[in-house]
Amino acid sequence: SSTSSSTDESFFHCLNASQQIYSPNTTSYSSLLSSYHENIRTSSFRAPKPFVIVTPNLESEIQAALLCSKKHGFKIRIRSGGHDYEGLSTTSNVPFIIIDLVNFRKITIDMDDETAWIQAGATLGEVYYAIANRSSVHAFPAGICPTVGVGGHISGGGFGTMLRKYGLASDNVVDAYLMDVNGKILNRKSMGEDLFWAIRGGGGASFGIILSWKIKLVNVPPKVTVFTIGKTLDQGATKLLEKWQHVAYKLDANLFIRALVQIVHGKKGEKNIRISFNSLFLGSIQELIPLMKTSFPELGLVSEDCIEMSWIKSTLYFGFYGARNGDPIDILLNRTHSDKSFFKGKSDFVKEPISENVFEGIWKMFLDEEIAFMIMDPYGGKMSKISESETSFPHRADYLYNIQYLVKWEREGHGSAKKHVEWLRKLYMYMSAHVSHSPRVAYLNYRDLDLGKDVAVGNISYIKAKVWGEKYFNKNFNRLALVKGMVDPDNFFKNEQSIPPLSA
Ligand code: FDA
Repeated sequence: SSTSSSTDESFFHCLNASQQIYSPNTTSYSSLLSSYHENIRTSSFRAPKPFVIVTPNLESEIQAALLCSKKHGFKIRIRSGGHDYEGLSTTSNVPFIIIDLVNFRKITIDMDDETAWIQAGATLGEVYYAIANRSSVHAFPAGICPTVGVGGHISGGGFGTMLRKYGLASDNVVDAYLMDVNGKILNRKSMGEDLFWAIRGGGGASFGIILSWKIKLVNVPPKVTVFTIGKTLDQGATKLLEKWQHVAYKLDANLFIRALVQIVHGKKGEKNIRISFNSLFLGSIQELIPLMKTSFPELGLVSEDCIEMSWIKSTLYFGFYGARNGDPIDILLNRTHSDKSFFKGKSDFVKEPISENVFEGIWKMFLDEEIAFMIMDPYGGKMSKISESETSFPHRADYLYNIQYLVKWEREGHGSAKKHVEWLRKLYMYMSAHVSHSPRVAYLNYRDLDLGKDVAVGNISYIKAKVWGEKYFNKNFNRLALVKGMVDPDNFFKNEQSIPPLSA
């Protein structure tokens, strides 16, 4: 209609004239929309699309996109790496635009200070690559998948193979630039410690637009050791996993052994379960073997199972499923990949070891699926030394390990999404007696809209949002809502699971 096209025109006019704007009638709109979006379950043709996508090059362009959206009644979805499990950076049920930070990817390393400024649109792979280019004994402790963006990842916590030694990615942030709801750019000093606390674990999207992080680099030896030992059920995998729960969180902090449960398909179509014990050790094979002999002899690790490599090669080993020493590290720079799938994830945190017969119940359910995983990351070490309230990420000393459940499928149609999602919900229900409760906590970065969502047109009440808010943030939820009330009282930065404003 003429009214809507005049609204469109004034919106376009409002945006900085030089800004790259992709509207649905421009050719690159669809490819831009999908290429940096990870979970294709949430981007089906039915999913609501943005009015426009902007890819700012300058802070003033981000500011124009923010202020014009406010003026013209659009919400914004900020996208850094596009890996949100529920697609919250790409779709929304209210009229919205996407601010895609794909051009905000500068990484500036200060070797004297052992810090780096990294812009929010950079990927983990780009950060790791840039650090390795400057030093073979420095690193950054963040997630395993190289295409994850630092904007979403670090603001939700972020962990990978060095969490037991160095904590979360967000524990290693020393400063940040954030654009607030009025378009003002703040750093740690000008935003104040409350807001700086909130964006390290509480998710950036409720508070503003993170422009960049200042991260503290950490030290690694020139050579680290990796290994993967896989066992199927008939090879005693369940017993080993039971044992793993008692030792993994207590091991030397230089040693990270995660357990990865998956379905394996035999030649005749028969299914089995394989559990892989997948490890990074910040030291040599020679140091590792005696350590394993005393702390986890049941795994039977011998030197032939181990590979020594530089830390940067270990990011390939984990990020690309067993890449070897010879692979070029340039693959860390690929922002997109072709093997995207439909998936749904959930998470749990475990306080007490789970018994073998409970695991056997899980395996039975797994055998009903085709592609499903349970990834168990041990806590302890540095994670136990940081108090629950130090940053807004609360899941610390109380937990032995974290579980991520994932189900994937390759084709849509015939109710497949419904079938797989229902399967995962059933598994989650089965686990309820064996994991944390009151509240049953979850990890924001493995976002799960089943935990509750805000579908209100106006402001959702604090009490309603608490349903998922306390799962992600436990006792920190209240402080997060108070910070939100201070910095965005009108709740412009609102999404399906954002933090509601609370006034003191
Ligand atoms: P995306 O751009 O989708 O953003 C996620 C959320 O943060 C959205 O709500 C978005 O609006 C908001 N946001 C993004 N940029 C922002 C900014 N600049 N300012 C304010 N808000 C912003 N996690 C982990 O801890 N360890 C791991 O090893 C992995 N591995 C992994 C593998 C794969 C294949 C996937 C899909 C995901 C993971 N994750 C993970 C989870 C990952 O940490 C989580 O999805 C992050 O939120 C992704 O951040 P992106 O910037 O990529 O996502």
